[in-house]
Amino acid sequence: MSQFGFTLLHTDPHSQARRGQIQTRRGTIETPVFMPVGTLGTVKGMLPETLKEEGAEIILGNTYHLFLRPGHELVARLGGLHQFMNWDRPILTDSGGFQVFSLGKLRKITEEGVRFQSHIDGSSHMLTPELSIAVQETLGADIIMAFDECIPYPSTRDYVASSTALSGRWARRCKEARRSDDGAALFGIVQGGMYADLRKQSAEELQEIGFDGYALGGLSVGEEAAAMYDMMEAALPLLPADQPRYVMGVGTPENLIEGVARGVDMFDCVMPTRNARNGVLFTNFGKVVIKQARYAEDPLPIDPDCDCYVCRHYSRAYLRHLYQNNEILAAMLHTRHNLHYYLGLMAGARDAIAAGRFTEYRQEFYRRRQPESA
Ligand code: GUN
Ligand code: ZN
Repeated sequence: MSQFGFTLLHTDPHSQARRGQIQTRRGTIETPVFMPVGTLGTVKGMLPETLKEEGAEIILGNTYHLFLRPGHELVARLGGLHQFMNWDRPILTDSGGFQVFSLGKLRKITEEGVRFQSHIDGSSHMLTPELSIAVQETLGADIIMAFDECIPYPSTRDYVASSTALSGRWARRCKEARRSDDGAALFGIVQGGMYADLRKQSAEELQEIGFDGYALGGLSVGEEAAAMYDMMEAALPLLPADQPRYVMGVGTPENLIEGVARGVDMFDCVMPTRNARNGVLFTNFGKVVIKQARYAEDPLPIDPDCDCYVCRHYSRAYLRHLYQNNEILAAMLHTRHNLHYYLGLMAGARDAIAAGRFTEYRQEFYRRRQPESA
């Protein structure tokens, strides 16, 4: 009696790009989709209603952070994460399998799980597949991720093989721990480092367990873009065509276009929101670094071709002034523009796939960028 499903609407004849819809208990998500990151129950600097105005259909939350502070039980007592943060659209929570490795100190990995020290107060905790699922269910997430190890790069083949096998055993425990009657979906996470055969093995193992969707983890960890695309090409064709595919923690606008071309349906990344707070703005012609002296008296908006609220009302000179004075409004306006760009890039991809012109869309994307901005 699951309320979760995926409908494939169009497939691009010249690439693997797909246009689809994910049905969740909190409504439909049009794919390919970009999911803004709201680690602590807030997409930093954005009101939920503004996120909706910009077209966000689903956002991310983080098990690791909310478990440590304020605690998932407290969030549940206040009505669950949706009510707590005033967001009524779908939420996907990451399992902690990435954050425990990137933030936790003195980690110890065993068959049981990961013991780590909190980055907040040094207190010791044990995160297991069972606890990760319980935390995500208690928060009230609509899409729940399996608990895994995000393998560092580079790693030896032996390490990658044994870590991927452990993540596979943890994935099975996650499936067994899932309460099946609440309408939330559970996704498995393909690991395998930068080894195509281990990626394939992981993708097959996870399908034997059976999940509502499949993610690729362990990407955007310092490898070359070409290696990331190779791993997408190794794993994605092996995944079921009638279920959603999600590449975790990716990426740059180019990574999104190339991921869509290879059949990815879902992305998340801190890049648009974090870069915004650091004064790095995304446009069709490349990046604008707002602190640069060249913008000191520049009356133009961030991107003259952008129709977002920020570009309709504010000059580069004003935004640079706010940024230089560390004003809160700089972070708010920059974040709004960057999310408008990322969400618009995906909306454009969806329209292009539906109209059978994704190849042209991809070419146009590269043609408009100025050579110096990656
Ligand atoms: N976010 C980015 N990469 C990963 C990964 O490999 N695992 C999890 N759980 N989250 C991620
Ligand atoms: Zn704009």
